[in-house]
Amino acid sequence: MKVLLLNGSTHAHGCTNQALEIVATTLNQDGIDTEIIQLGAGAIHDCIGCNGCKQDTTACVFKDDSVNTFIAKAQNADGFIFGSPVYYAHPSGAILSAMDRIFYAGGQFLHHKPAAAILTARRAGTTASLDVINKYFTINQMPIVSSTYWNQVYRDTAGTPTADAEGTQTLTHLAHNMAWLLKCLDVGKTAGITTPTNPKVAKTNFVK
Ligand SMILES: Cc1cc2nc3c(=O)[nH]c(=O)nc-3n(C[C@H](O)[C@H](O)[C@H](O)COP(=O)(O)O)c2cc1C
Repeated sequence: MKVLLLNGSTHAHGCTNQALEIVATTLNQDGIDTEIIQLGAGAIHDCIGCNGCKQDTTACVFKDDSVNTFIAKAQNADGFIFGSPVYYAHPSGAILSAMDRIFYAGGQFLHHKPAAAILTARRAGTTASLDVINKYFTINQMPIVSSTYWNQVYRDTAGTPTADAEGTQTLTHLAHNMAWLLKCLDVGKTAGITTPTNPKVAKTNFVK
């Protein structure tokens, strides 16, 4: 079983990545494979609503950033962690652009797979940012994995999360809970429990 982790910071070795590594290391200790994908410091396209992904149902029309890499790897992943720094009390613009496209072009590859968001910050805006990322999961039939606190960790002056003992504990517990849920789902699958198909028949505008 494998968990895919996305670093929504431009800093490949920053606080968010270190937080993701805490989760990944704990998942590995619990027998779960992991891979961290970096959004990096390059430009991430916004979704332009062209619906090109409705023709090619496995990819976004923009091929020059890491979104399609994530979508391709998502097909064989069993769970997901989305990590972001807090920028002005919201997730990074880069991760929102990426997640719009991941879920619009490849959302079907994440259905019924557990997910969690983690946020890093200097001081404030973590829970508001958590709410934003969690909404991608709740419109896409994904169980949200929780921990013993909201999934947030504060950076210290050196830019690392390790001084935040409770934040680190929260990430470790989150990883244990993710590993536990993945193993439960695997047992269910082996026992013949299938995922619901839930066809989307009705699609109305608000006025009618
Ligand atoms: C443009 C910008 C806006 C920020 N806004 C906030 C904020 O609203 N609240 C906060 O606590 N930290 C804020 N920060 C600090 C980052 O969230 C924090 O340093 C984070 O851990 C950086 O993660 P990284 O090292 O993975 O990039 C901001 C940083 C930047 C660059």
